[in-house]
Formats: sequence, C-alpha cells, structure tokens
Amino acid sequence: ITLTPSANGAAIDDSMYGVFFEDINYAADGGLYAELVRNRSFEFRPADNSSFNGLTGWTVTAGTAATTDDDARLNDRNRTYLRITGGASLTNGGYGTGYAVQKGQIYDFSVWARADAGAKLTVGLDGATLTKSITTDAWTKYTGTLRATATTNTGRLTIGTDKSSRLDMVSLLPRNTYRGHGLRKDLAEKIAALKPGFVRFPGGCLVNTGSMYSYDAADNYPRARSYQWKDTVGPVETRATNANFWGYNQSYGLGYYEYFQFAEDIGAKPLPVLPALVTGCGQNRATNDPELLQKYLQDTLDLIEFANGPVSSTWGKVRAQMGHPKPFGLSQVAIGNEENLPDEYFANFLRFRDAIKAKYPNLTVISNSGPDDAGATFDNLWAKNKAAGSDMVDEHYYNSPSWFLQNNGRYDSYDRRGPKVFLGEYASLDAKFQNSLAEAAYMTGLERNADVVKMASYAPLLADIDNAQWRPDLIWFDNDESWGSTSYQTQKLFMNNVGDRVVPSTTSGGGVVRPQPITGRVGLSTWATAAKYDDVKVTGTDGAVLYSDDFDDGNADGWSTLSNRGNWSVRDGAYVQSDTAANNTMIAAATNITATDYDITLKA
Ligand code: AHR
Repeated sequence: ITLTPSANGAAIDDSMYGVFFEDINYAADGGLYAELVRNRSFEFRPADNSSFNGLTGWTVTAGTAATTDDDARLNDRNRTYLRITGGASLTNGGYGTGYAVQKGQIYDFSVWARADAGAKLTVGLDGATLTKSITTDAWTKYTGTLRATATTNTGRLTIGTDKSSRLDMVSLLPRNTYRGHGLRKDLAEKIAALKPGFVRFPGGCLVNTGSMYSYDAADNYPRARSYQWKDTVGPVETRATNANFWGYNQSYGLGYYEYFQFAEDIGAKPLPVLPALVTGCGQNRATNDPELLQKYLQDTLDLIEFANGPVSSTWGKVRAQMGHPKPFGLSQVAIGNEENLPDEYFANFLRFRDAIKAKYPNLTVISNSGPDDAGATFDNLWAKNKAAGSDMVDEHYYNSPSWFLQNNGRYDSYDRRGPKVFLGEYASLDAKFQNSLAEAAYMTGLERNADVVKMASYAPLLADIDNAQWRPDLIWFDNDESWGSTSYQTQKLFMNNVGDRVVPSTTSGGGVVRPQPITGRVGLSTWATAAKYDDVKVTGTDGAVLYSDDFDDGNADGWSTLSNRGNWSVRDGAYVQSDTAANNTMIAAATNITATDYDITLKA
C-alpha cells in the first residue's frame, strides 16, 4: 500500500476529546462524591424510588428513632431529620457491601444536632470511636475525626445518643480525597488520567426531565424536578435533595461548585448543560409559562456569573465564599438535551442564546439535534440550527460496532459553513473488545474532520457494578475498587495523544478493493471488503424484486424492509455491509442471511 500524505489539514483542538459526567449508575453519591454515609440527611422518599423511605441506608439497632418533617427542621431545604426519643443507636451501611475504609486513614465526621436537655453523642467506625456532648437545643454542627483501625470494605458507621435528641446531615468523609476536594480518589484519578479537554455535566436526561418547577415553597417542594444549579451550591446542609431520573436520590453534595472545581483540577474546560423548559428522554412536554422562562433565563445568566463573575457580583461572591475567588473561566454552555419537540425546543433555545450572547457575546452556546442521530427531528433541528447560525450542535448516538465502522465517513460531507459539531454522547453497544476497536476506528473519522467536529465525549462515564442503569460504561467501580473498560483504554489513547493537525492522505496499491459490478448470490467470499455501490437490487430466489435502490436521492429507501429479513444495514451512498461483521467484511453476513435466501445485484 502506498500512503500519500499532504499538507494543510485541519487543526485539532487540544480540547477535542473530553468526558461526559452524568449522575447515572450511582456515579455521584456512592461514586465520585466521596461521602460515605448513604441518606445522610434522611430525605429519601418513595417518590425517589418506591423502595425508599426516610431511613433508607439506616438500621435502628437500639431504642426509638424515627424520621420527622416538622417545624423543628434544620432548614427549609433540608426538611426531614431524625428524632431520637429517650436514646437510641443506629448504623449506616453506606453503598454496596458497606464503607471501604483503610487502616490508619483519617475520616472526618460531622453531624447537625440538638438535644432537649443535653445528650451524649457516640460515634463509631469499626472499632474507632468518638464522643461529643450535645449541649444545646439549637441546631449546631458537631465535628470530629476517626482513624480507621482496620482495612475493610464492609465497614459501618454507628451513631447514637443517650437522651432525646434530633440529628441531621450525618457525614463521614475520607480526609484523603482527590486534591482534597471531596471526590473519591481512585475514580477522579482514572478520569484525570484520560487528560480530558472538557467535562460535560451534569447530564444527560438528568438535566431536563421531571417537573420544571424549582424548590420554592410556592411550588409545594416538587421532588422530581429538573436539574437546577442553584439547588446544588452553598453549604451542603442547605442544598436541596432531589429524585434522580435514573431511579434514586441525589444529594447534590457533588454540585455545580464541585463540578467546576473538578474540571479545573484535571485541566479540563467545564461544559454545563442547562434545561430549556422542554423535557427530553421520552418525556415530551414543553412548559409554556413566561414567568418560569424568565426565571430559567436568569438562572442561566446567574450561572455564568457564578463561574466567571468578579467577587463583587452577587453570584461571584457565592463562588468566593465557597472557596474560589478566582473565576473558573467558563467559555461554553449547552442548552437542553435530546428534546423531542423540535419547534418548542428551538424557540426556547433561541431565547437562551440571545439572552446569553447579549451579555456574554464570546461564550459558545451549544444547541442540540434531538434524541436520534438521523430522522425527522434530527433533520428539522439541524436545518433550524443552520438557519439560525448556531455555534455548535450536540449529537448523540449509541449504535452497534458495525454501525461505527460503516459510518466512519459520517462527517466527511458535513457542511463546513454550518454549525460545528459536538458529539456529546456516543458508544458502541455491547462491551467487548471489538467495541473499543470500532470506536477507535470511528474516532479517526472524527479526527479527520476536526475542522467540523470540535468536541467528542464517550458516554456514560461511570457505573457502580451493582447499580448500573446503563451499559456499556467507561469506568466501573464498587465501593473500594475501580477499573476501566477496553473503551476506556481507547479513549485514553486518543485523549493522551491529541494531534496538532490532520494530515490528509490517500492510499493506493495492494489490499484496496475497488468497487466492482457484482451480480450473484451472497456468498462467503463474494465481497472481501465493503465497497461503495451505486445501485443495489435484491431479488428472491423466485425472481421477485425484494428491494432496489439507485440512491440517486441520497436516501436508502426501504432498506429497512430488507433489514427486517436479516441483519443488514445500508447508509447513504450505498455502503452495504453486514450489521454483525465487526471485521468490515460481508463474511459474517452470510451467517445471518443464508446464501440461498436472496440474489443481490450491485452495480458500481
Ligand atoms: O448517557 C445516558 C443517556 O443517554 C443520557 O442521559 C441521555 O442524554 C442519553 O439518552
């Protein structure tokens, strides 16, 4: 084979490859967020998951203790607390098999407590203990440290008082977290080792599903509400908890400040995704409430101020109070995720974009293309984005490995004058070695088109092996171990070796199969390698035409009819391959469509 390189290929941005963090698969609480106590503020509800209640994660081992939601609460956003009557003891089992603690390591304990007439608080962590006197009947934060006496992954926290008391926000955090910023070290290190150029967060479906109302008394404290960043900042005991779209509760201990901090710690650009008052992920609702729209627009502007504003600004001051007076350098935001109501979504997107650009003209505002990688909504949204001159469009797809092989050229024909592409979510389905190879091959196509594909992130990033709602995932973990998938190695390879510039090249010589007119039955070696064809005709052995297309209109009309009869797929331009052939040949197809089923005529 002769490879002929040429000069002047597109520049590849350093931030081309990044990660997408969503709190799916217990990625935050029980995952990246290092907090060991599950349900630390007793806020779990059946509304989060029908198997949950205020004492989920806890076992009362002696005495009387029950969760209570009344006027004695810690604050309006942390409504339920634990009421101990007389005296009681409880244990918390954390996530998975229990707390993973290491001998000799320090664990920082804290609790908010009050006692009717004074009480003694006793805390234990598998042999390590501490005691505190609760001296007042006003909510007060009590802190202490525990040094683990043994290494275990089945640890338990015990806590109790000898007299009547109220407890809330029971916390145990390892001292040893990533850069001391409260994130589980092994997971953060695995993400950092990828050297991501950006971190997209906090979702995904998590962002814009559920109620669009916020955590206000007037809204009757809706629990399954969209992700609203103001719920997630400030002292943790004042952060609201929320049902998580993926079927559990989210404490927001890992909130917007922590996301920005983490992105900074790993040298990545932050990329928040904000809800646009239209639900996605199968919940097709648009909220038509001008006041609410105004609030969402203001929240978005406030977020930019929180990230970048001076400490003298309202939200810059909140950031500074949380420990980061310096701006975080936010340069891009995405509006919405996989909305399936293109007209409603896009009308709102334009409002968000205009409001943002009016105040922050240099900020990149990313739109999206709906839930699918092709089809009416996709085409409609792309057309709208082009017409409106959007900066960048987010695309998502999860497909078979062979789809990734067949579609390597997807972006070759994208309009260079149109919006740039952000491939915000993709993965080849299944979790085998061939998936990683298919993704690697596909990424060469992304990189070849680095002038139009500006960013790409595999999804999802993290998964608890015992609590996964979605597979495959990039990094797996249990309570004390973590490991990367083979796709992790693919991502790492690309992210750690981002080139400066594409070197366009052509090949000639041996091994390249030229498209040939072929008439004949599918046989094991009819096509050694996939090739491009102009016309495809499939006839049954009785001579009846099952399918034919000259692709002159650029579409693969009716091919699904044939697909239903076997494991076949076709793309525009008549790229014909087997769905199952990971090796890019037709050989595997013959195992799904038997050679006697069809005659196929292909014309180059
Ligand atoms: O990555 C998992 C989910 O896939 C995301 O939440 C959503 O955007 C997509 O459908």
